[in-house]
Amino acid sequence: MTRTISSYISLLPLLSSIFATVGTPTPIARRAEPAAKPGFNRVWYEDWGHINGITHNWAFDLGTSYPGQVAQWGTGEIQTYTNKTENIKILNKVLYITPKKVKDAKGQITWTSGRIESRRGSQWACADGKKMLVEASIKLGSAAEAQQKGIWPAFWMLGDVFRSRGYTGWPEVGELDIMESVNGIRQTWGLVHCGVYDGQIPIRGPCNEPDGKGGYVRGIGRGLWHTYGIEIDRTTKDWETEKITWIINGVRHHSITGSQINNATAWDFLAHKKMFILLNVAVGGGFPDGVEPGSALTPFSTTIDGDSVGMQVDWVGVWQQA
Ligand SMILES: *[C@@H]1O[C@H](CO)[C@@H](O)[C@H](O)[C@H]1NC(C)=O
Ligand SMILES: *[C@@H]1O[C@H](CO)[C@@H](O)[C@H](O)[C@H]1NC(C)=O
Repeated sequence: MTRTISSYISLLPLLSSIFATVGTPTPIARRAEPAAKPGFNRVWYEDWGHINGITHNWAFDLGTSYPGQVAQWGTGEIQTYTNKTENIKILNKVLYITPKKVKDAKGQITWTSGRIESRRGSQWACADGKKMLVEASIKLGSAAEAQQKGIWPAFWMLGDVFRSRGYTGWPEVGELDIMESVNGIRQTWGLVHCGVYDGQIPIRGPCNEPDGKGGYVRGIGRGLWHTYGIEIDRTTKDWETEKITWIINGVRHHSITGSQINNATAWDFLAHKKMFILLNVAVGGGFPDGVEPGSALTPFSTTIDGDSVGMQVDWVGVWQQA
């Protein structure tokens, strides 16, 4: 998510030619508890049942940037994040993040939405020789694609050093995009970002910034609950064969190994160091623009607001191998 406006110009050809995998995950028709994970201990869990609500485990990210940091959250997204219930709330133990269109006095359209990150102190690393799983149950808005142009829900992680360095240092700090989707497409992306990026095209560095490395999965039914997760596997005890795998509804999809990143320092940030979790729905920006023909600027006048373009999250958890 922490990308520049020009980020996604070459994303689709890149991904389809290198790591893309195509699959048809089984839809889960209704909310379900996390599947049993034999051999793993659950080390953190959120199911939105706390008396003090969202802030029990999460901090709100507000406005249009981290304080004093890169504008539009570094991605060109256009919304302002708020902590108002019209943008983010818990209802029946489900988190709703809802983009809203606002017309100002001059008739100009602006957008608001919601973004949260796990509180300081809540960040996790996969232990040497073990596996770690991070998973959430998520339902994406089911409005028609024409009504979701520019809508960009995401479940992702950033290296905790990003916070200790005052929200600077992307992409070196490492980013794991567990689930991203744009423009109402029945497709979700799973990518990593790392290494170096100086704002220039062509892409470069161990993670091919600004595109990142990873893949996508097609045929994700919208308006249905799915589980999206990643597994970090350090059981090989050799960084080059360690692996990050994207898992949807228990089905393993694409993965990326240390040797595919081919940079021990960059891999250390991605697979060894502590990361925190983020949940948000952005509006506009490099990724949704980049998948439109001619990189048209989203959102469009046809883009609607409300729950049918929002994201619902039933639970989020972190599991460590015993
Ligand atoms: C929402 O944000 C405002 C402005 O930063 C703050 O004063 C208020 O306490 C926040 N409310 C919650 C529930 O976090
Ligand atoms: C390897 O990654 C590190 C840390 O992200 C970065 O500083 C360095 O420039 C990278 N090396 C190469 C050859 O890309």
